[in-house]
Amino acid sequence: MAPPPEDSECLHPGLAEPRTKEDWFAYVFYEPPPRPHLPPYDVYVAMDTNDAERRRLNRSRNRYHSALVLAWTPAVQHFETEITELLAANEMAPPGARLGLLIDGPPTVGKSTLVKMIGRKFEQDLREDFPERFAPERLGAYVPVVYVSLTDQVTPKQISIAIARYLNVPTSGTKDTIDDRVLTALTACGTQLIIFDDLHFLDCSLKEGRASNDHIKFLANHAPCTIIGTGVDLEDSPLLSEGGPTGPVKRNASVKTPTSGPRTQTAGRFSRQELTAFALDGERSILEWIGVISSLEKALALYRHEAESLTRQHWRYLHERTNGSIAGLHALIRRSAVRAVQQGTEAITREIMDSIVMSYAHERAYAKVTELKSRTSTKGTTKQTKQRPAADGSA
Ligand SMILES: Nc1ncnc2c1ncn2[C@@H]1O[C@H](COP(=O)(O)OP(=O)(O)OP(=O)(O)O)[C@@H](O)[C@H]1O
Ligand SMILES: [Mg+2]
Repeated sequence: MAPPPEDSECLHPGLAEPRTKEDWFAYVFYEPPPRPHLPPYDVYVAMDTNDAERRRLNRSRNRYHSALVLAWTPAVQHFETEITELLAANEMAPPGARLGLLIDGPPTVGKSTLVKMIGRKFEQDLREDFPERFAPERLGAYVPVVYVSLTDQVTPKQISIAIARYLNVPTSGTKDTIDDRVLTALTACGTQLIIFDDLHFLDCSLKEGRASNDHIKFLANHAPCTIIGTGVDLEDSPLLSEGGPTGPVKRNASVKTPTSGPRTQTAGRFSRQELTAFALDGERSILEWIGVISSLEKALALYRHEAESLTRQHWRYLHERTNGSIAGLHALIRRSAVRAVQQGTEAITREIMDSIVMSYAHERAYAKVTELKSRTSTKGTTKQTKQRPAADGSA
């Protein structure tokens, strides 16, 4: 059989969700495509559109734009501090209720990306500080980070199987047998951080609810690790409150009605913090949003893009278009960059951004904003029209 091609360009450029420690190591070492070197613009436009060199250049620009940069947003920085502190406080703590953290937030606010960025940085720092732990002869023996992305209606046994698969230990046998193997492996691998992504998929139905809670508590007690979980609506989940809410949970900015039902043992082991979409409700939050746009805009590899035009002129539009979601912003800028190259405008303009169809949720949210705006402006015009006669004294 022919040896695998050495040229990494032949491999699938994207990253799949890590399911094993090997996947995770690949993620830790992954470097996004480098910024392509652009020849002078006049040389570029002089190339025939079918010129292979031009096609290659644009292909590598697309690859580069499709990865774009990930921003160390204030939220990422905040959670990095929180998680690093927790890891330090838990490292040699006695067995028992080690404190973990649940990051609760609506879809597409960047929860999964955030925990992976932080886990990756944690491991990169360890690799720098303790190279002997990662020596070639110990390849795969030291696994400081375990990342498990939960899938639909996952049961406690499936969680143990997912960790076992990740650590490369046999997944056969009863739940007790697998649990036992998993705990032994976690200790042997020196795992310090376990990340459960999409914890809302934990089966907390009446039948499995208690068992799921007990299992998380069991892991938090027996595994010498810090557990971080992410999820949607975790506050209302039976993970934190036995029996769940009895009625709708009412919220406003200052008052949060706590869910009913006694707090679970998991609730006693995890702090819960929210990750929300960017809001424009004050100078600080506006500056944070602008800062993120700026870091993405600076990374563009386009010939004629006016520097800082998105940051200075379109920050509010970008917020309306994406509902303050980092996923929406990243996607809109990526798509626009690809289109700007393909159409030859070489700049991300309002027209290009307007022509992109975003996700269903973002388009719906934007439609509401534009409708509200047009209603307000119609009201304003009517008022003005009514007032004008009085103002010029002709009424
Ligand atoms: N810090 C970041 N910088 C730039 N882009 C980001 C960042 N975080 C997230 N994104 C973009 O948002 C997309 C979605 O993020 P992610 O999957 O982490 O959201 P999520 O909150 O986990 O969503 P879900 O609840 O649906 O799982 C990412 O693929 C990426 O394009
Ligand atoms: Mg996610």
